[in-house]
Amino acid sequence: MNATSVPQTGSPRPLLDLVTSWVDQIAALTQPDAVFWCDGSAEQDRAMREAIVASGAGLWLNPEKRPNSLLVRSDPRDVARVEERTYICSQSKKDAGPTNNWESPEKMRTRLNGLFAGCMRGRTMFAIPFSMGPVGSPIAQYGVEISDSPYVVANMSVMTRVSPAVYAEVEKAGSFVKCLHSVGRPLAPGEKDVPWPCNPENTYITHFPEERLIMSFGSGYGGNALLGKKCFALRIASAMARDEGWLAEHMLVLGVKSPDGEKTYVTAAFPSACGKTNFAMMVPPEPMRRAGWEITCVGDDIAWIKPGPDGRLRAINPEAGFFGVAPGTSYSSNPIAMDSIKSDAIFTNVALTDDGDVWWEGMTKEPPAHLVDWLGRDWSPGQAGPDGKPAASSHPNSRFTAPARNCPVIDPDWENPAGVPISAIIFGGRRSTTMPLIFQAFNWSHGVFLGATMGSETTAAAAGAVGQVRRDPMAMLPFCGYNMGDYFAHWLGMHRQIKYVPRIFHVNWFRKNAEGKFLWPGFGENARILEWIVQRCRFGAHALETPIGWLPDYSDIDMEGLEKTVTPEIFAEAQRIDTTEWHRELLLQDELFIRLYSELPKELVFQRELLMSRV
Ligand code: GTP
Ligand code: SPV
Ligand code: MN
Repeated sequence: MNATSVPQTGSPRPLLDLVTSWVDQIAALTQPDAVFWCDGSAEQDRAMREAIVASGAGLWLNPEKRPNSLLVRSDPRDVARVEERTYICSQSKKDAGPTNNWESPEKMRTRLNGLFAGCMRGRTMFAIPFSMGPVGSPIAQYGVEISDSPYVVANMSVMTRVSPAVYAEVEKAGSFVKCLHSVGRPLAPGEKDVPWPCNPENTYITHFPEERLIMSFGSGYGGNALLGKKCFALRIASAMARDEGWLAEHMLVLGVKSPDGEKTYVTAAFPSACGKTNFAMMVPPEPMRRAGWEITCVGDDIAWIKPGPDGRLRAINPEAGFFGVAPGTSYSSNPIAMDSIKSDAIFTNVALTDDGDVWWEGMTKEPPAHLVDWLGRDWSPGQAGPDGKPAASSHPNSRFTAPARNCPVIDPDWENPAGVPISAIIFGGRRSTTMPLIFQAFNWSHGVFLGATMGSETTAAAAGAVGQVRRDPMAMLPFCGYNMGDYFAHWLGMHRQIKYVPRIFHVNWFRKNAEGKFLWPGFGENARILEWIVQRCRFGAHALETPIGWLPDYSDIDMEGLEKTVTPEIFAEAQRIDTTEWHRELLLQDELFIRLYSELPKELVFQRELLMSRV
């Protein structure tokens, strides 16, 4: 018997009160026309994609060029994460900390209940049972997303493991993460829908860490709406991880096979649109491949890391797909990503070619002579935009969604429920100045200090100004679900829970010369830096002790075939420690430390003083 009179469609309604009672309660609040139960099947996926096309939001790409793939155009007001509208609603304000927006749970619930009341009128409500991580893994967690967007369903089916098998795990656990989403635009009887309904004036992305609840209203885009990703796997999971002694991080995970056959796993935290997807799928340069180096991908955005019974940190990728930045992705920069999106993909806010395929800035050297741009308008190369400059055909935060199983270098252990053992952790930001290409921390607590003081120039992944240096500790500034000072203390404390402590490194692919050109070629060439990192972890390869950490010399890096592009002089410039720049850097670090003062672990204050006395 259904507890509500709302018609139930899709796969059978589950026999699990824990889930159905919540879904019924939300249906009573939001008043959809029907409830559709999702099961992750190919038939439902097809139906969802057809619904997106029927709504006018998307179109099928040419099946000969991109089988089973869609192009979707969002409302131009709904194109990126909205950090200003993102809240951590913990009982105490101190728990959210000074780096998060906070509102009391009672007040936010009242406001949101007002917004959610009747907000699904005229729409179907989808109930999506999903697992973050392989179903049954000791590191996995379970959720149900309720959404009124077929686009969200189609993307969640790629990005997470949607399956009725989740219900048994929820029953065992006795709980699940409640993920409530609405585009926030109810339809009056007979009202015609718009292609991309959203409600930018009333957008709220809210998290209730104590209740393991997410309520997202008004946006249908990316991390605002695919609630398994940033909202659950980072903001809620970081709070779970603090309570349970593990780490939920904005990190890629990759495997490196050395020529002797040994496998080394590495994680890396770079802020949004700063190179995780590229690094996770890197193809090593030819001389390295010839020598026997191989790189495999475990994940490109999120890592859940737990101390394992073997005394090592073990990581899983909780996701099942990639939601990657499209512009700049090409067969020369990231051929593996290009191969991963050959079929079954969803492209959002990229341009359409005349033969029904996709294009974006940087995909090929020469743009096609004619395109339909991300706004659905005719576009030709050089055509001026509203500011008089040549207009981009794709939005700078346009993205592809593709299943991880389509990735030709997916690691054989990417779904290992025990995770993969981590030997190195890399932090890095997008910095035109100051930060060297590569250096290693002296030890764990110095490494935590490097992560905690990370700075990066802002990108189009979030709404707001682009290119401004801000502190983005561990690439988690927009994603940590609790007090950043407590988060640092949690990181420092992990040391005691593990016997084999990963080495910690800092990289910067984005340092520029006086002419404003990148000093380091980046992309696949980054494998050379990774090679040194692996050799350092395994054999203590050579490095120089400097005031900021251990730095490799030119001769320590495998430069075969790159000697002309990166001369010893250019390398020295990329590695240069400029005392004046470092004095400025120390002041910038202090801005964050002062804000966090009351919760900041003393160990990090001491690390800063040591660094100050060294430089
Ligand atoms: P999110 O999905 O937002 O978390 O981003 P991400 O960290 O996965 O970023 P991604 O790998 O998609 O890179 C985003 C941008 O950085 C693209 O425009 C790339 O072209 C550029 N990029 C990536 N790697 C490098 C590099 O090694 N050097 C340079 N110069 N640019 C890079
Ligand atoms: C990021 O912004 O770090 C992303 C994209 O990975 S989104 O899922 O929209 O947050
Ligand atoms: Mn990300």
